[in-house]
This record gives sequence, C-alpha cells and structure tokens, in this order.
Amino acid sequence: MTLSALPRSVPTAPLALQQDEQARVRATLAKVSIFLDLPATVIDDLARRITIRRVLGGNPIVNQDEPGDALYVIMAGRVKIVVFGDSGREVTLSVLRPGDIFGEMSLFDGHTRSANVVAIDPTTVLALSREDLERHIAAQPGTAMRLLGEMARRLRRADETIAELALCDVSERLIRKLVGLAREEGGDSPEGLVIRRRPTQQDLANMVGSCRETISRTFNSLARKGLIVPRGRALIVTKRLVQMSEPARAA
Ligand code: CMP
Repeated sequence: MTLSALPRSVPTAPLALQQDEQARVRATLAKVSIFLDLPATVIDDLARRITIRRVLGGNPIVNQDEPGDALYVIMAGRVKIVVFGDSGREVTLSVLRPGDIFGEMSLFDGHTRSANVVAIDPTTVLALSREDLERHIAAQPGTAMRLLGEMARRLRRADETIAELALCDVSERLIRKLVGLAREEGGDSPEGLVIRRRPTQQDLANMVGSCRETISRTFNSLARKGLIVPRGRALIVTKRLVQMSEPARAA
C-alpha cells in the first residue's frame, strides 16, 4: 500500500496511525459490493496494491476527458459525479458514499473519463490501477460479475432519471430526490426520514436539472405545507411526503 497525499499539504500519519489505517483499508475493501465474500488473503493482496489519496472537500478527484488509469473505492467522505454544460452549469449525476466505487467506465471502454468526480467532504479514496484490477479479475472472475451487477444498477438508476426528466415536473422531481436522499442516508425519526446534512438549494437544482430560483420556490412551498421540516443543518422528510412520492398502486 502506498500513500499519495493530495493536496500535498495534508500531513503523512505516524506509523501507529498508518497501521490502524491499513486495518481500515482492509475493512473498507471487504465491505465493497464488488469484493464481497472474497477470502481474507485476496483482500490483503488488494490492500497491498492500492494507493491512498486524500482530497479536501470541493477538490476534484477525477477530471472528465482525462484518460482513466484506476478504479477508486471511497473509504471516507462523499463525492459527487458531475458534468458541466458549455455555460458552466453543473449537473449532478449521482452522489456516492463510503464503500461505493467509481472510475470503472473508462477502464472498460478505453475512452476518457465520462464525468468529473468531486469531493463533497474531506474524502479518502483507495485507487487500484487498471493492471492490478485486470490481474485481480483474471484470478477472481466473480468480481467481474459483481461489477456488471453494479453497472446494471447504475444504468437502471440513469433510466429512472431520464424518465423523470421526461415525465415529471420540477416539484415531483424534487420530492423524489429528497425522498431518495433520505432513504440513502437511512436516518429515521418519529416524524419521518432524516437528511442529516441538508443539501443547498443550488445542490438540489443541480441534482434535479432545474435552477436555484425554481427549487427555492418549490422547497419553500413544501415546507409551508409541512411536508418537509428544516431542522438546523438537517431536513426531516415527513412520512406524508414519502407516501406522496410512491406511485399509486392499482386497487
Ligand atoms: P469513469 O468514466 O472512468 O470516470 C467517471 C466516473 O463517474 C465513471 O467512470 C463512473 O464510475 C462514474 N459515473 C459516471 N456516470 C455515472 C452515473 N450516472 N451514476 C453513477 N456513477 C457514474
């Protein structure tokens, strides 16, 4: 395992901390969906081959149109997958969390990176080179099947987003996004689901393909109706809103 600290100002940890970190690296790899159920010796081998990168919140990890040379696993922090329009407008395709992977698309199709990956929080990622991934897959074909499963899940989600953009108005898209974010965070309260770190209205606009002004109006209208409840930095997504987001079932 090698340590490549980005940006350079982040200090290298002392030895005891590094050993603790090695244990966390192995624990992270063992929980990643594509590496599930691998023997400990294989996880140890992967852990020896990875490079650790630390990135401050707001900094890019991967830039669109650069060649792809590594697959990344998120160990800590959240990242957003973004593309920019000619006017500089940002579209957020997805937000990924610890245990998620990114960077597989350009490794497999040989093209440049399909999107930018930007750290939202201070983020630690584990990079596995293309050569090491190929060597691993040759020895463990099950990883390839799991990677296909992960890519199918992302395609399914992308299909849902395309359908929502074509079929739903901004209000419906915002409701679905808020419920989706709350479900991903998994926080529960008597009033409903909890988004612990409420995204800004600009972030929400980037996620649902709208502008900040429209999101601001829609968000405030949901809050006035008591369907969402801002609480400090958190947001409660009420059970009523969750029900509204679910498609009506035939009687
Ligand atoms: P790659 O193209 O190598 O670099 C950018 C990465 O962003 C890409 O691999 C995927 O891992 C990830 N990515 C691109 N589009 C999406 C999407 N719609 N949902 C989730 N992840 C994505």
